[in-house]
Amino acid sequence: MRVKVRVTALIVAAGSGQRLGGDVPKQYRLLGGRPLLRRAVEALIGHPRVDAVRVVVGADQQEQVASALVGLEVGQPILGGPERADSVRNGLEAISEGIVLVHDAARPFCPPDVVDRLLDALATADGAVPVLPVSDTLAKGDRELRGTVSRTQMLRVQTPQAFHVDDLLFAMNEAGSSRDTDESTVLQHAGLKVATIAGDEMLDKLTTARDWEKAEMMLASRMISRTGMGFDVHAFEGTGPIIMGGVAIPHDHGLAGHSDADVVLHAITDALLGAAALGDIGQHFPPSDPQWKGASSDRFLLHAAELIRTRGGEIDHVDCTVVCETPKVGPHRAAMQAKVAEILQLSPAQVSIKATTTERLGFTGRQEGIAAQAVASIRMEVR
Ligand code: CTP
Ligand code: MG
Repeated sequence: MRVKVRVTALIVAAGSGQRLGGDVPKQYRLLGGRPLLRRAVEALIGHPRVDAVRVVVGADQQEQVASALVGLEVGQPILGGPERADSVRNGLEAISEGIVLVHDAARPFCPPDVVDRLLDALATADGAVPVLPVSDTLAKGDRELRGTVSRTQMLRVQTPQAFHVDDLLFAMNEAGSSRDTDESTVLQHAGLKVATIAGDEMLDKLTTARDWEKAEMMLASRMISRTGMGFDVHAFEGTGPIIMGGVAIPHDHGLAGHSDADVVLHAITDALLGAAALGDIGQHFPPSDPQWKGASSDRFLLHAAELIRTRGGEIDHVDCTVVCETPKVGPHRAAMQAKVAEILQLSPAQVSIKATTTERLGFTGRQEGIAAQAVASIRMEVR
């Protein structure tokens, strides 16, 4: 019986992203709303043949990595070194055994079938790497052309690359201080057999600002529009003011509710949660929980917006209709629109507040309470 060998994906993320530039190293920068490193980890963590994912990070990156990977099981981050090869070695020593998939954080979209091909190839080789043919003409030279090179002899080598941890450590020791940017070459130099499998354009590394822009565009094209609706009612009770759309509106009566009874923000929150298919406001903030007693409802709205944005979503528009005889909404409409826009970090043009009466019919017509109905349009990645 064959013993199953543990497969660990080792994601190196200890670089400084010099060529891309920017305030934070690229692996922590948000790509389509999610950190690049998080995307690289998520692409591998759910694969049925990957048992664990570990990350290698820079000494000064502990806080950034914790926030980028919140909620993902990656164990203790491993400390990297000055060169990529040092980071890989530190990772291998921490893993110590089994099969490793050495992968760059700078390649956020690893297709699952690449992992299958790599692991299958290890049945007959010591290592396996994804490669792609070169399609552009290749030439020697610096600025001046010094003759072309036959591209049929050339391959683009990508990551993840699959090895047995002990083989790769052995090969790295054999190589000593001679540095190669690619593990498969190190393995070959040590006399071990490296197989090639079909790579994938999705694995291309994000190195320059242009690479980043293209990845953003690709993600944007994958976003689909989604719509959600929300509805809420609060009964008049006690004395005013009424809080609607985050604005205090003078009125004889107040509204009954566990929180601040902001009927407008509640309806919009539910519309956003609905658009993202993330349940409803009562699930996220149960009325039975004392911590929400008297709570300002902008927290609920903000939470819904954050849930969408951490999933790479974008809010395009919200529209709310308030249904009541009194108070008159018109004089407060602009303030409510501005407040909702501020909470959701949208422009006021992306927020619509409307009002109507029910011609004295029904509970709103009898002035027993206020109802609000909202619709939200968002865009989210298809996953
Ligand atoms: N890397 C690493 N340790 C280093 C250098 C690089 O773990 N000392 C990682 C990077 O974080 C990246 C991968 O190796 O995920 C590929 O390297 P590269 O694209 O060159 O990233 P950076 O080195 O960060 O970028 P640059 O070379 O532009 O500074
Ligand atoms: Mg580098």
